[in-house]
Amino acid sequence: MKVFMAVCMLAVAVRLAAAIVVPSAAPCALTVGFYNGKCGNVSVESVVYDTVKAFLDADKSKGAALVRLLFHDCFVNGCDGSILLDNSTTNPSPEKFAGANLGIAGLDVIDAVKAKLETACPGVVSCADIVVFAGRDASRYMSNGGVNFDVPAGRLDGIVSSSVDAQNTLPDSKADIGKLIANFAAKGFTPEELVILSGAHSIGKAHCSNFDDRLTAPDSEINADYRDNVLSKTCKSAPNPTLANNIRDIDAATLGDLASYVVPAVGGDYLDNSYYKNNKNNLVLFNSDWALVGSNATLQHVNEYAENGTLWNIDFAQALVKLSKLAMPAGSVRQIRKTCRAINY
Ligand code: HEM
Ligand SMILES: *[C@@H]1O[C@H](CO)[C@@H](O)[C@H](O)[C@H]1NC(C)=O
Ligand SMILES: *[C@@H]1O[C@H](CO)[C@@H](O)[C@H](O)[C@H]1NC(C)=O
Ligand SMILES: *[C@@H]1O[C@H](CO)[C@@H](O)[C@H](O)[C@H]1NC(C)=O
Ligand SMILES: *[C@@H]1O[C@H](CO)[C@@H](O)[C@H](O)[C@H]1NC(C)=O
Repeated sequence: MKVFMAVCMLAVAVRLAAAIVVPSAAPCALTVGFYNGKCGNVSVESVVYDTVKAFLDADKSKGAALVRLLFHDCFVNGCDGSILLDNSTTNPSPEKFAGANLGIAGLDVIDAVKAKLETACPGVVSCADIVVFAGRDASRYMSNGGVNFDVPAGRLDGIVSSSVDAQNTLPDSKADIGKLIANFAAKGFTPEELVILSGAHSIGKAHCSNFDDRLTAPDSEINADYRDNVLSKTCKSAPNPTLANNIRDIDAATLGDLASYVVPAVGGDYLDNSYYKNNKNNLVLFNSDWALVGSNATLQHVNEYAENGTLWNIDFAQALVKLSKLAMPAGSVRQIRKTCRAINY
């Protein structure tokens, strides 16, 4: 089998058919506007944005999915498109099969973007960059422009994708604060950045199996009404149903008196700092969310972001850029996939 390899440092123009052995850890030079002029007269970033916008106009739930996709791709083995790979005879258990990737979605958006870009300029735009652009664009859309930033590009796609790696690397919603801090530290993120990034849980939804531990959490850790009348009831309603992460996105009938705690936002399902306000009211879904107010080291940051939504928009954007720079291990085989769901042959 002939495997195409390249390093970040290599220009796409010098693609070689023969394998290159990469002896040293050359840092990837990611740059803002990397694709300018690389796809004829087509603007790569506009194609991504327009496609993301069209999908989200039709179905806003894809927005949360794309933000989560960026996190889950970049955290495991660096931003390498590994979350996108389907199982195959040579790789029967890719990342998307991990329990920690339950509910992963938005891959149809990535496929649509990739198809358009392969038509415009075959073999130029990596799936890893599409995931990052799409996550950035979804953040902008879901925050009505509040989270709006340039992100560097020039990533290449990997060929490694393991459900075991994903399970061992991604944080667990039932983890305590010590584990969460250690999990983020392992990727170079501070406890403050853990708090900042967790604010993404102001949008989207989760399966009961990821918060059923909260059904028996004490009153000091969760609003009892929320626990007994929203979470418990939802979990009994169907096999492993989903519930909105943000109380704002739960229907008023289910919410009952808790509706008075809702932090309104235009259009609902809105990426903003309401997560921190909900957290201070013990109205968040996961143990990993509550854990941030249960410890002094992180509580101060929860307070900071609950008070200042503009500050959160800015800091969240910065933290996403940092996430997007997580790189594949040195010496990894790199390529630009023809299709995002399978490695090239
Ligand atoms: C702090 C550690 C984190 C844990 C333990 C965690 C865990 C989870 C879990 C269990 C779900 C629900 C999946 C399901 O049941 O379908 C979820 C959803 C989500 N997470 Fe996280 N997460 C964390 C951090 C993050 C970060 C850093 C981001 C992005 C910056 C993020 C973005 C999201 C989004 C947007 C959703 C909703 C997805 C959707 O509705 O499609 N999470 N998270
Ligand atoms: C872009 O390039 C294509 C093919 O080279 C050409 O057919 C098309 O007219 C150009 N479009 C614009 C807006 O310049
Ligand atoms: C991929 O996994 C699915 C579900 O487990 C299975 O039905 C399918 O046969 C697998 N495909 C390959 C190519 O291994
Ligand atoms: C957190 O800070 C409060 C007030 O400053 C203090 O009473 C409490 O003991 C601290 N808790 C921990 C676990 O350090
Ligand atoms: C909120 O944060 C922004 C950005 O740092 C800052 O300019 C603004 O003054 C802060 N607002 C308040 C009320 O502290």
